Amino acid sequence: MSYQVRIAETDHAFDVDDGESVIDAAMRAGLMLPYSCRGGTCGTCMGDVVEGRIAYPDGLPPAIDGDQDEAGKALFCQARATSDLVIRVGEVRDAGDIRPQRLPARVERVEDCAPDVRRVFLKLPRDKRLAFLPGQYIDFLLRGGQRRSFSLANTPHDDELLELHIRHLPGGLFSGYVFNDMKEGALLRFEGPLGNFFLRDDSDRPMILIGGGTGFSPVKGIVEQALHTGVKRPMHIYWGARARPDLYLDALPREWEAQHSNIAYTPVLSDPAAEDEWSGSTGFVHEQVVRDHPDLSGFDVYMSGPPPMINAAKTAFAEAGLPADRLFYDSFEAAP
Ligand code: FES
Repeated sequence: MSYQVRIAETDHAFDVDDGESVIDAAMRAGLMLPYSCRGGTCGTCMGDVVEGRIAYPDGLPPAIDGDQDEAGKALFCQARATSDLVIRVGEVRDAGDIRPQRLPARVERVEDCAPDVRRVFLKLPRDKRLAFLPGQYIDFLLRGGQRRSFSLANTPHDDELLELHIRHLPGGLFSGYVFNDMKEGALLRFEGPLGNFFLRDDSDRPMILIGGGTGFSPVKGIVEQALHTGVKRPMHIYWGARARPDLYLDALPREWEAQHSNIAYTPVLSDPAAEDEWSGSTGFVHEQVVRDHPDLSGFDVYMSGPPPMINAAKTAFAEAGLPADRLFYDSFEAAP
């Protein structure tokens, strides 16, 4: 059994199979709709059901409440069609050749860049390439159907190796493997690229780019791509972290700032240790952004980080005048 999904105010339509999420069906049809976590927790995929009915096989997901559900809102990463649908979403793009694939990759190199962060570089088989947009992520496919998501930190023009920044989580299934057992040459399997956190090039507004912890990795990809393509828009990069060692590639954004007059860089520590001898900004990174830019109405904002950071920033930035459609974010829950 399948149903048809039409996207209101566009010419796009696609079929969704019984039990398939609307987002998965759209991807299968070569369309990119907004999504990030695909787990019902971030809210990125929320849109409207204009006509038709949907159901959630596991009950209402965490990122939608009863009132929103009643009002016809839906999380399309979890929603299953139970009739033909007309839906409205914030943005729809033709994916072109940016289609998720399942690929093997070998660990080419591992670099320790903080006590609990490693840069892992992966090499694809010789006859394979991954078409992706900087800022997107991949899912490692683990035994038992489990997945672990990591953003790509490199760019398509520098794709001989795929670069990921992996933080060690206490008791972490995959990160424990990466830090304790994984050797260079290890074979991994992943699906990607995924997500719609990437640079929109149809704007000339100044940008604010925020990374929280290892959320710096997609920001790195986006900025390197912007520099490569000669983007001249002002970019104010923020990196929010707990203490100084967590700014594990701090020299890189400092170098961008020194070499490019359109780039500013502000690291912000929420809990610097005495030995950090930190004289820079402190507190929550989104609060520093609003202190520096009390009127956000003229900006595009890109941010990647854990849900508490993203949720706090969404509220603060809306209050500072940022229109909802100029906020692009990747909200990642670190899975153990
Ligand atoms: Fe659907 Fe996160 S809630 S993508």
